[in-house]
Amino acid sequence: MASSSLSLILLSLIAVVSAAAAIDDFSSSSNSEKKTFIIQVQHESKPSVFATHRHWYESFLASVSTTIQSESRDEDTSRILHTYETVFRGFSAKLSSLEAHKLQSLSHIITVIPEQVRHVQTTRSPEFLGLRKADSAGLLKESDFGSDLVIGVFDTGIWPERQSFNDRDLGPVPPKWKGQCVAGKDFPATSCNRKLIGARYFYNGYEATNGKMNETLEHRSPRDSDGHGTHTASIAAGRYVFPASTLGYARGMAAGMAPKARLAVYKVCWIGGCFDSDILAAFDAAVADGIDVASLSVGGVVVPYHLDVIAIAAFGASEAGVFVSASAGNGGPGGLTVTNVAPWVTTVGAGTIDRDFPADVKLGNGKIISGSSIYGGPGLTLGRLYPIVYAGTEGDGDAYSSSLCLEGSLDPNFVGGKIVVCDRGINSRAAKGDVVKKAGGIGMIIANGVFDGEGLVADCHVLPATSVGASGGDEIRRYISAASKSNTPPTATIIFKGTRLGIRPAPLVASFSARGPNPESPEILKPDIIAPGLNILAAWPDKIGPSGVPSDGRRTEFNILSGTSMACPHVSGLAALLKAAHPDWSPAAIKSALLTTAYTVDNKEGTMLDESTGNVSSVLDFGSGHVHPEKAMDPGLVYDITTYDYVDFLCNSNYTIKNIKAITRKNADCSGAKRAGHAGNLNYPSLSAVFEQYGKHKMSTHFIRTVTNVGDPNSVYKVTINPPAGMVLTVQPDKLSFRRVGQKLNFLTRVEATAVKLSPGSSSVKSGSIVWSDGKHTVTSPLVVTMQQPLQ
Ligand SMILES: *[C@@H]1O[C@H](CO)[C@@H](O)[C@H](O)[C@H]1NC(C)=O
Ligand SMILES: *[C@@H]1O[C@H](CO)[C@@H](O)[C@H](O)[C@H]1NC(C)=O
Ligand SMILES: *[C@@H]1O[C@H](CO)[C@@H](O)[C@H](O)[C@H]1NC(C)=O
Repeated sequence: MASSSLSLILLSLIAVVSAAAAIDDFSSSSNSEKKTFIIQVQHESKPSVFATHRHWYESFLASVSTTIQSESRDEDTSRILHTYETVFRGFSAKLSSLEAHKLQSLSHIITVIPEQVRHVQTTRSPEFLGLRKADSAGLLKESDFGSDLVIGVFDTGIWPERQSFNDRDLGPVPPKWKGQCVAGKDFPATSCNRKLIGARYFYNGYEATNGKMNETLEHRSPRDSDGHGTHTASIAAGRYVFPASTLGYARGMAAGMAPKARLAVYKVCWIGGCFDSDILAAFDAAVADGIDVASLSVGGVVVPYHLDVIAIAAFGASEAGVFVSASAGNGGPGGLTVTNVAPWVTTVGAGTIDRDFPADVKLGNGKIISGSSIYGGPGLTLGRLYPIVYAGTEGDGDAYSSSLCLEGSLDPNFVGGKIVVCDRGINSRAAKGDVVKKAGGIGMIIANGVFDGEGLVADCHVLPATSVGASGGDEIRRYISAASKSNTPPTATIIFKGTRLGIRPAPLVASFSARGPNPESPEILKPDIIAPGLNILAAWPDKIGPSGVPSDGRRTEFNILSGTSMACPHVSGLAALLKAAHPDWSPAAIKSALLTTAYTVDNKEGTMLDESTGNVSSVLDFGSGHVHPEKAMDPGLVYDITTYDYVDFLCNSNYTIKNIKAITRKNADCSGAKRAGHAGNLNYPSLSAVFEQYGKHKMSTHFIRTVTNVGDPNSVYKVTINPPAGMVLTVQPDKLSFRRVGQKLNFLTRVEATAVKLSPGSSSVKSGSIVWSDGKHTVTSPLVVTMQQPLQ
């Protein structure tokens, strides 16, 4: 089992960065310092002397308590942050490391998991996805389509008064719904309606670590004081709103993917982050409430599944029939950056759409450098050039000390009256503009670092500003440096060009979109799929300006954001539509329909490109490809997966019986699974083989797959094989004849590879595909083969 730790991934590019809590092992923190732990208990073993599970959990705490006896009782009671009973059995509490140790050794305790803090990682997208052809045979044709489905959004809450959440023409709340509208600060129970049918908030874990929240800055209620949650909720299920735009940009009709689906909002993210103990409590409630889809635009570090609360919660949810989609993370374009990788989660990366917001830089030497921006205020005078300075300092050769334009870092004497070049980095891009403006700058250019590549993100700036790619940034810095040396003061201006449609090529894989390979299970290709995630227009609260900067007094009904956070709710909304059309489909069948119909070709008929380089992208960047809603409605065949299959997968991934129980809440028997094969045999809609080249010349493996006919009763599928370069790929049988709907047939795929020259520790990745077609449906599975040269 490969476990790897990645640095913190922010899934929304606008999110404010705060330090990630490292997952310490119990012993590394000082004994007296208390931290939150999530404790899984053998629920069914509760002795009858305890009236409730909570009483029993309190007795555990009392028995390990290191606090002195006289004060222990009351204190222990209050130390339980949440109890869990649906997707997880147990509780969370603040414990010293010694207490956590002791607890771990008690009988009836399955696992003690240290809490992780996570962070949130946005309308032309329905049109781009082909959903707007509503009156034809489209997905949205039925008038009440999707209205029985409930999408749970786990995020920063919601601004319920937005037009996107109106309940006009919606029928009564679906009878199966058991959720609640929990009132709180500035959020009366009347905030919910027939669109927003549930709202809850979870903060005990947050406050246990961060102390009491500051209610001037955030609402102790489901109300969104950040904007992220309002945005993601309206992407998944916003109503049609016309006209919609942000500061005049992206004018048109705004709508979510499933405009009639109901929303239930679970606020788990606060200024200090999203705490696992709260996320778990939210999933526990949401599954009991009766959500159909869980949308989670939140991510953290990748850890083994039995220590990953999101993976555990998602397993419980998917077992209850809930489709879970999660953002892949914004750690791209580097490899091994994908997060939320459990095979029962649908992991969504971000692509661009065919719309952009060009705002080019013109330098004093006449050079034009393309940029991107959403700036709606008074501009720079047309035709005039302004002095330009670089906020960092140029060193020898390519070395320079960069400037992130952090608060208080700019000297007004240096930047006053000038366009200021800042480097992209961890602080919010719009916040840099605020700093430049306060220091007297009249414009700003944000230059990507090498790591960011050429990807451009448009922001609602508070002054005339634009973003340029890494090579454009280099060119601007070189120009400034050369002009200064030759005593001709460098000048520039920014030319705003508004909204441009019909961009080709599109989609591209967004630079920031997190990439494979899967750090936890290389046998499962991740991300699964990409969906629109760059410059997405969606609803925005009234409390915050579109730049997210506190001093921004502008108010907009909509805002444009980017991130895999924005891609994820597109898939969540689509999953609700698919479930509405196919109520009997499992979450795995819905995922299969989305994956096997995804496309990998852009609107110029070439393989999708990578925005960070302009080069062709690969399956490690886009997984099965870009989501294609209309085709997903009628996939022909699906690769279905049961809970038992996931258990076999965990067995074959060498998880212990105890660790499997931590995920599945059941005792597993791995003997059958081990006989049956390997982790890659999970009936996943994509295939991934990993070969270690221990001096071997030929390597081979096989995959057994089962497809279920969900198309026409009598249909014959033939296979087309596209082997990875230099490999032999066979499929047996090469023809599958179905007699009825629901019928399952197996096939065996064998891949043979010849060792390639690799330096120790390096690897080579090649991909191909297997395509089943009956002439009407095309069912595509990518196959990725990784050859690894061991270090020694
Ligand atoms: C809460 O935030 C406000 C606004 O930033 C600040 O003025 C106030 O001091 C904060 N209160 C506490 C208790 O930190
Ligand atoms: C992009 O492609 C060019 C031309 O094939 C190549 O030289 C370059 O290394 C590639 N860049 C990356 C980052 O792969
Ligand atoms: C599980 O362990 C076996 C035996 O050590 C090993 O051959 C196999 O590669 C491991 N599988 C995974 C997925 O780590």
